[in-house]
Amino acid sequence: MIDRATVDRILDAVRIEEVIGDFVTLRKRGANYLGLCPFHQDKNPSMSVSATKGIFKCFSCGKAGNAVTFLMEHEHLSYSDALRYLAKKYHIDIVEKEESAEERADRMKYESLLIVSEYAQKFYQDILWNSDVGRAIGLSYFRERKFTDETIRKFGLGYSAGRDHSLSQEAIRGGYRKEYLVESGLSIERDNGDLADRFFDRVMFPIYSLSGRVIAFGGRTLKNDKTVAKYVNSPETEIYNKSRSLYGMFQAKSAIAKSDKCILVEGYADVISMHQSGIENVVASSGTSLTVEQIRLIKRFTSNVTIIYDGDEAGIKASLRGIDLVLEEGLNVKVVLLPPEDDPDSFAKAHSRQEILEYVEENEKDFISYKSDILSARTAGDPLSRAQMINDIIQSISVIPDQILRNVYVEAVSEQFSLKSESVLMKIGEMRRRKRYMTESRQQYEQEREERASARETARPEAGQQESGDIADIYLSVPEKELTYYLIKFGSYVMHFPEDMVYGAQKQPDMSVEEYITASLSEDDIVFTNPLYRKLYDQYNAFSASLPEEDPVERQKKIVRYFSTNEDLSISKAVLDMVCESHPVTVKEYINSLVPEEQLLAFSVPKAVNNYKYRLTDRECKALAKQIAEAQKSGDQAQARDLVKRLQMFNKVKNCLAKEIKRL
Ligand code: CTP
Ligand code: MN
Repeated sequence: MIDRATVDRILDAVRIEEVIGDFVTLRKRGANYLGLCPFHQDKNPSMSVSATKGIFKCFSCGKAGNAVTFLMEHEHLSYSDALRYLAKKYHIDIVEKEESAEERADRMKYESLLIVSEYAQKFYQDILWNSDVGRAIGLSYFRERKFTDETIRKFGLGYSAGRDHSLSQEAIRGGYRKEYLVESGLSIERDNGDLADRFFDRVMFPIYSLSGRVIAFGGRTLKNDKTVAKYVNSPETEIYNKSRSLYGMFQAKSAIAKSDKCILVEGYADVISMHQSGIENVVASSGTSLTVEQIRLIKRFTSNVTIIYDGDEAGIKASLRGIDLVLEEGLNVKVVLLPPEDDPDSFAKAHSRQEILEYVEENEKDFISYKSDILSARTAGDPLSRAQMINDIIQSISVIPDQILRNVYVEAVSEQFSLKSESVLMKIGEMRRRKRYMTESRQQYEQEREERASARETARPEAGQQESGDIADIYLSVPEKELTYYLIKFGSYVMHFPEDMVYGAQKQPDMSVEEYITASLSEDDIVFTNPLYRKLYDQYNAFSASLPEEDPVERQKKIVRYFSTNEDLSISKAVLDMVCESHPVTVKEYINSLVPEEQLLAFSVPKAVNNYKYRLTDRECKALAKQIAEAQKSGDQAQARDLVKRLQMFNKVKNCLAKEIKRL
């Protein structure tokens, strides 16, 4: 228990911008600070921190609080542990209110694991510097690898000597509890209850949390014996989540923020050597292949990632996999290939800071050039694999969440391989749709869509009212009606797509009309503007989800029955109209062709979707043109330029859609 007076002293000492600044890059904005909110997927900095008021607030997700609640939420600490953390940070002695032996033992396990890890780090470090065996073996190894003393200390490196200096025994003698030694992974319990050290005869690399506390270790053997594992690492524990930590992040984070770039390497030595040569914005995923959580960690500090992996086969493979993951999280990714005989460690040692920076600058490739270089070297002269390679690159583009950025790359790839950009766009649309089916369960899908719809509902009312009765409404509600028509009449029917029209790659998989439409709309976060069709669309999805898989014709009959007898009269009337009349827009086409309407679905439905998207884009273009005029009037040139760029992008999309509609 911490007494009240101490609590007050802690709270008086706290500067919230420093506390939050340990986890999030904050930039000064007037009287406040601004940063990416760590409590949701923040794209633009929306968390504001007020130094004078001592509070933070996220304008996007609404999370708010003070330094203590920030720590409680962010680091999953209890109230008193958050206070202890702050006391430590601000060097305030805590007067514990007569803590019993039992309370002491029970004090959060989490904290105990941190404490025992910190103890172990000091222990290994002490052996490295102050014992004969440590100096003779460990220290001389590091020096042989050209690590300076300063570097060795900065990264807290150490040596585990096993039998001569057993961490387990020493820790028990020092009063550390067996259970924490075992749970932290430092010790392994034998059958007879004795403790054995996990690490022995290894140089030790402590792994730090973002706030600089030791949470785990990697131990490298110095033997060249193939039967001995090169690295032994701490297991996952309550304080160490492998997939969420990046080696070197604590030491690198401020350099990452400052340079607005994070260099990603593979190993401990790579990070340390780069650091030593003065390039500090470097982290390693160390052994595990890169994870989404690790990328999100990087994203708190920068959105630019440069991957520098070894030039060997394994490194290339890992880099290819990394690229898509990074793109998918909306970050920019570049890749640097080192000379084949080098890894970042050896390269950093052989070159000065300036030389490394220049090399990176000159050899940094965007992922399109990188992939095409690598893949074309492998597939030289084989036209079939060329198509596969292009597909592969387009696949990478398709995972980028931002539509505008995606289109920038579409242009680049189309130019490089002389493809029509509309074919590439089509292909990407397909890939994104396919992916949704592969990865998302239907329910999730429904739920997300619902959330989006209700978010818009609340965001929109004024605009909606302004436009009601406007031409804009009819302009959009016509295609909305058309899409609703296809759902009600043919939603369950399967569309068989003809062979792909993009350089003979995979064929679009068969899917039902409703799958196609819901996927196409949700891929661009589209929600119907017309209230009736929006309501119908939502209820359609809900009802359809409740139906079992069965013969599509039977299934569709149930849908028609349900909606045409709906107690909501606006719905039943609209649906009756739809099923009684043939569709007004496409009626001519199929009468002329003498082909039953359902056999044309593979053309007519995509066409209807594209037509709708065309109109949405068109409207967006008009709105943008208006905004540009306003920005120019108010003299905001930068804003106007941004808007013009956006407009050009939308115009391009619009033209592609127009061509696509024509083709269909
Ligand atoms: N790694 C691991 N277990 C292994 C091999 C590798 O955990 N058996 C992890 C380590 O984090 C290592 C990284 O993968 O740092 C890269 O592996 P590697 O290039 O083999 O190791 P380096 O650290 O570069 O070792 P060194 O340069 O000392 O050979
Ligand atoms: Mn190495």
